[in-house]
Amino acid sequence: MSTEIEKNKYVFPKDFWWGSASSATQMEGFSGADGKGQNIWDYWYEAEPNRFYQGIGPDNTSLFYTKFVEDILLMKETGHNSFRFSISWSRMFPKGRGEVNQKAIDFYNTIINTLLENEIEPFVNLYHFDMPMAMQEEGGWESRSVVDAYVEYASTCFENFGDRVMKWFTHNEPIVPVECGYLYGHHYPALCDFEKAVQVAFHSVLASAKAIKAYHDKELGGKIGIILNVTPSYPRSNHPADLAAAEKADLLFNRSFLDPSVKGTFPEKLIDMLREENFLPKYEAEDLDIIRENTVDLLGINYYQPRRVKAKENMPNPNAPFMPERYFDHYDMPGKKVNPYRGWEIYEKGVYDILKNIQENYGNIECFISENGMGVESEERFKDANGMIQDDYRITFYEDHLKWIHKALNEGANVKGYHVWTFMDNWSWLNSYKNRYGLISVDLQNDYKRTIKKSGYWFKKLVESNGF
Ligand code: BG6
Repeated sequence: MSTEIEKNKYVFPKDFWWGSASSATQMEGFSGADGKGQNIWDYWYEAEPNRFYQGIGPDNTSLFYTKFVEDILLMKETGHNSFRFSISWSRMFPKGRGEVNQKAIDFYNTIINTLLENEIEPFVNLYHFDMPMAMQEEGGWESRSVVDAYVEYASTCFENFGDRVMKWFTHNEPIVPVECGYLYGHHYPALCDFEKAVQVAFHSVLASAKAIKAYHDKELGGKIGIILNVTPSYPRSNHPADLAAAEKADLLFNRSFLDPSVKGTFPEKLIDMLREENFLPKYEAEDLDIIRENTVDLLGINYYQPRRVKAKENMPNPNAPFMPERYFDHYDMPGKKVNPYRGWEIYEKGVYDILKNIQENYGNIECFISENGMGVESEERFKDANGMIQDDYRITFYEDHLKWIHKALNEGANVKGYHVWTFMDNWSWLNSYKNRYGLISVDLQNDYKRTIKKSGYWFKKLVESNGF
């Protein structure tokens, strides 16, 4: 092994967290089984199945709920030393609060124990876009009472699993439900309402701080953080108007969660922006103390692509709904590198810029890359005669990002690990199985058969040699 490490150009620190991320709704399946209540995805699929790519819904995911033993062995085979999954709120609490579903506790206990038996550290996230329907009917994140129900769910998870789980996360990408559910209409309740979006964001921040307090109060000896998709906002040019546009996008989409989560306060400039348009959320005086006093121990950073913006060129129609695009226009940079199989920009240096930002402006808090991945449409076309996907493009994608992470590490960034999105091909919200991301393929037509991709073997070698 030491010769292997010597040969490597990019060697990572000892005990680096290598693994992958997932979420309950995207991989468990059995969305109505064993007492699980409906969440917004189950409900929406039942009501409007045609919204979902090829009509495939959350009842038809990769079936981790029953295939988890095989899957955890595959994690081991692909070198994982850690794995992030989420606990389905509506499996734990079918009605969102009140009676706990013992079968859910048993299921997650088995998952945690099986991971540990295989020397894979469980990283557990609480909320990954999956509001229980009963809570959505109460207003979802718009409603203060749902914040309390979330804290009850979080505390129950800490009590039942906190003796073995040492890394907890309150939310995955909390800006996504704000954007997709309340601004751009992609996720349920599919609204376009800036005022509600701000309230949802505020309550998500508050819920996170309250869960952090509940966790710390229990003194379980682990750490709790949040997972944010910190998307660097790059201006078209250094012209002051472009710089101002980029700063506004950064305030809305990144600093709205990053600052309160790590520093305990919202940026003054963001507050001014919202106040100016009369969009400040409703809150109680004590909320700001709770947020200030309960910041994260560690930070997960999801990175896929940057956001490129320019100063507004056309005056917005004053009668159109108020959108973040009142503050900037999107900029389609000529010559940008694009993932030809998903359409997203590939800009590897973005991950370095984020890590440097955290190092320089957020006290170099302990962090890790909690998602990074390359989605590919119709990936079967890259299957070889033995049924293995030859995903060299994905290996290149990972290595090119890891080089920048390595550089940040060398310059003192406090980055502890790298999790790819994702372990095995999974169902993804409205896109269902359109974009495949896994280290392992899943054949929906053939009893969900799992086959390790070329990138899965590459990942194993990466972990074994702690670099490449
Ligand atoms: C991340 C989410 O932002 O992007 C995942 O945390 C999601 O839940 C992933 O699956 C990829 O998105 P998509 O739409 O390409 O499947």
